[in-house]
Amino acid sequence: MTADVDSQSTVERDDSLPERKNLDTETAEDVLEATEPAASPQRGAEDMSETEAELREAARADTGGAGASASHSDSASYSDSDSDTDSAADPDKAAAVSAARAAGAEPGIRQTPRPEREAASPLQVEIHEPIFDIQDLSLWYGEKQALQDISMRIPEKRITAFIGPSGCGKSTLIRCLNRLNDLIPSVRIEGDVAFEGGSIFDDSIDVNLLRKRIGMVFQKSNPFPKSIWENVAYGCKLQGINDTADLDVIVEKSLRGAALWSEVKDRLHDSALGLSGGQQQRLCIARTIAIEPEVILFDEPCSALDPIATAKIEELMQDLKDEYTQVIVTHNMQQASRVSDYTAFLYLGELIEFADTDQIFLKPAKQQTEDYITGRFG
Ligand SMILES: Nc1ncnc2c1ncn2[C@@H]1O[C@H](COP(=O)(O)OP(=O)(O)OP(=O)(O)O)[C@@H](O)[C@H]1O
Ligand SMILES: [Mg+2]
Repeated sequence: MTADVDSQSTVERDDSLPERKNLDTETAEDVLEATEPAASPQRGAEDMSETEAELREAARADTGGAGASASHSDSASYSDSDSDTDSAADPDKAAAVSAARAAGAEPGIRQTPRPEREAASPLQVEIHEPIFDIQDLSLWYGEKQALQDISMRIPEKRITAFIGPSGCGKSTLIRCLNRLNDLIPSVRIEGDVAFEGGSIFDDSIDVNLLRKRIGMVFQKSNPFPKSIWENVAYGCKLQGINDTADLDVIVEKSLRGAALWSEVKDRLHDSALGLSGGQQQRLCIARTIAIEPEVILFDEPCSALDPIATAKIEELMQDLKDEYTQVIVTHNMQQASRVSDYTAFLYLGELIEFADTDQIFLKPAKQQTEDYITGRFG
């Protein structure tokens, strides 16, 4: 299927945008308090397979085994974003402000909404034949609602970014796309997510196969304590590919695809834990692409990386663009503006605006979006 994308955007990519540098304002806290599969989430948790156990292990490694940050929601208020910084003291935020100024916004103080502009611009970009069609999706952790009636369509073979303040539901939403939330006790989901036309919640869906088709790279790189070769071959072995020569080919292809081959080709049988953080993150991408997914989900993949390693991952995402649909959660607005084609802004579990990335950053339709991207939250 080919996504037929009609951006409806009137804003062309602008090479004269202020130079965008790394701005990692992310907080380290994360999510998956996965212990046992949910006893009875609406979308039932199935018995945990070996692959699923690995996924959980990966997710737990990603969170450092930390518990869920339920207090996020309490602190995630419009005026209390912990990803907020003072734009005057921050060159990147200042760049965002000057970009907004170039788009006609007045930085400095929060402005009253401008209804005429809200009415003029569509809330959502129109995506025809999407790879994901999210329909009225709501999610609760126990009594607490984390996603509210989200509907959006994600285009195939494009990069879509989710941005928004801490606790607004970005990770929750991205984890819905490959049903990773099934592993969290007490999760209840309403609404639907169609993937290539069929509901991912359909009883006939093999969740392990779904997660093979929709791979995930987590915030913290989480290589297994095995060799580099074993890490990349791991998923294929689980799928029953055991021929070493075949696996050699897959390992090399995947490491090349993740732009890591030249750095590790002479140490394939050394421990993956001896790699640098940026190399480990690319190894995790190699491990993900080894099993030939159609989609790669990235939840803050660069938040622990320095600007050089971040640049490599971003370059890699561009290289992978022709072959994969990519969705990235990031706190780094410069990263979202650099790498993505489309950006969704979430706030308090709601989708506020979803548009062409340039439109979001230069001419957002919603006042809340503008306040967020210009650092005027609070
Ligand atoms: N396993 C969980 N159990 C209970 N509540 C959770 C769980 N995971 C997330 N939440 C809550 O759901 C809401 C959305 O969390 P989520 O992790 O999706 O936000 P986020 O936008 O990814 O935040 P951050 O930018 O800090 O990673 C928050 O209020 C959070 O506390
Ligand atoms: Mg998150």
